[in-house]
Amino acid sequence: MATVSEIAPDLFRISTFVPEFNLQFNQFLVRDAEPLLFHTGPRGMFAGVRDAVATVLDPKTIRWIGFSHVEADECGSLPEWQALAPQSTAVCSLVGKMVSVDDCVATRPALGMQDGEVLTTGKYRFRFLHTPHVPHCWEAGFLFEETQRTLLCSDLMHQAGDVEASTQADVIGRCRQVLVEYQQGPLANYMPYSTLTDPTIQRLAALQPKTLATMHGSAFVGDGSRALRDLAVVLKEVLGQTS
Ligand SMILES: [Fe+2]
Ligand SMILES: [Fe+2]
Repeated sequence: MATVSEIAPDLFRISTFVPEFNLQFNQFLVRDAEPLLFHTGPRGMFAGVRDAVATVLDPKTIRWIGFSHVEADECGSLPEWQALAPQSTAVCSLVGKMVSVDDCVATRPALGMQDGEVLTTGKYRFRFLHTPHVPHCWEAGFLFEETQRTLLCSDLMHQAGDVEASTQADVIGRCRQVLVEYQQGPLANYMPYSTLTDPTIQRLAALQPKTLATMHGSAFVGDGSRALRDLAVVLKEVLGQTS
């Protein structure tokens, strides 16, 4: 059963906890003239996410379906969503569109965004940041909503457990714990640590986000710059060591 929480004005977090993974899968719904869904969730969650969206607005009216990179939890149910919402267009990086999305993910041609381009949905303005290999994948990117300073940050700030929808408490300890645990098992090297990692995180921090809307865990509300800079330190410590 998905839960729905408004974590910023007109920004709804739809969350499903999967006990087998001890993990929440979150999607973000923006209520605006042209409604936007960021992350579709995996195919197996489609019905639950659709019913959760329906508590806020008519799912058929979704206009934009954004995601960071090509993975099941980011865009697995894009075909189902595009069948349900006839006016919907996928939104991803230009690389994503060219390399994968138009060929094997989207039903209709995607909007392929270049770094710095803006998508306006009505009241809200989403600046696209192309961030290759952060959190992972060549095509990765984020949307930053400029009026409320919300960063839709995909797998960054990942936390385990069935946690609260949003928090003002420091979540860096939780993020660190997940990365350390994943390094011990089959999910090791969740994010690559490359020459792009630190400059990308510092660039996101310079946006001074007020809300970090993560796919897994609680949305962080507060000094997003500081949280991202703290995350950069953790990524370097846990993933950036050569051994
Ligand atoms: Fe991912
Ligand atoms: Fe994810």
